[in-house]
Amino acid sequence: MTDFTFLQTQIIGNVLVVTISREAKLNAMNSLLMQELTACFRSVHDSLDVRAVVLTGKGKAFMAGADIEEYNGLDAGQFFAFQDRGREMYRSIENCAKPVVAAVNGYALGGGFELALACDLIVASTKAKFGLPEVNLGLVPGGGGLQKVSRLFGPYIAKELAMTGRFLTANEGKEWGLVNRVAEPEELLNATMALAQELAQKAPLAVQVLKKLINEGRDASLETAQAYDRAFLANLFRTEDAQEGITAFVEKREARFIGK
Ligand code: COA
Repeated sequence: MTDFTFLQTQIIGNVLVVTISREAKLNAMNSLLMQELTACFRSVHDSLDVRAVVLTGKGKAFMAGADIEEYNGLDAGQFFAFQDRGREMYRSIENCAKPVVAAVNGYALGGGFELALACDLIVASTKAKFGLPEVNLGLVPGGGGLQKVSRLFGPYIAKELAMTGRFLTANEGKEWGLVNRVAEPEELLNATMALAQELAQKAPLAVQVLKKLINEGRDASLETAQAYDRAFLANLFRTEDAQEGITAFVEKREARFIGK
């Protein structure tokens, strides 16, 4: 993998661990950091070695949102270009063929909360804090998170979070269906790796299709979404992995999936 300024990457088995490393600024996303995350996830999309990704942050933040210092002095055109780079970054995760598990170690604010929301599963440390504090800057969230939070929690909770900017704890996130698992800080990476390794063992094409069906089905009518489920199921049935999975079950052995 390429050398990055603000990312550290490590492959463990077939799980890629991506650590955002701009600790002095609480991993706030400047333009370069956004471009690096986009490039990283685009290369993961095509990688044959990687079957799942863990995304985490170094220090006391997962990501404290957009780099407000970079905002300072931008004209409107530059500001929109910054937002577009953010959108590309979230898309590179949402469209990545591999499942991405966020290990939220601390602050996940504004664009950092939206980054966690772009991931497929969320494991949060008891130190994690999720929030949309853009209102304090006279702004609103621009990375898609506002509508995701509204659809996930309902408009009343979304308004409370976005209008007050208050932070959500890991346990509140778990209670409300945002967080899959909560772990003590020292156990966060192990707990997240265990989940990512479990996903990495599954048939890669089936996992990729599940990600797409759930992400895209959310905004379609039930009838349409279920029609897509059936169409993709028919395609998967023809894959070598599905035939291997079915045969392995009948032969009472472990399936060996190859992603074809
Ligand atoms: N953009 C740029 N720099 C940021 C940042 C951001 N979003 N968030 C934190 N930083 C920087 C601080 O300016 C500080 O830099 P400095 O040491 O050079 O002064 C450093 O990171 C440490 O942050 P600090 O505020 O001292 O830590 P804290 O523990 O007292 O507070 C937060 C933590 C997260 C509550 C606070 O930093 C904060 O509110 N950040 C902004 C969050 C936000 O509004 N995000 C949405 C942006 S659209």
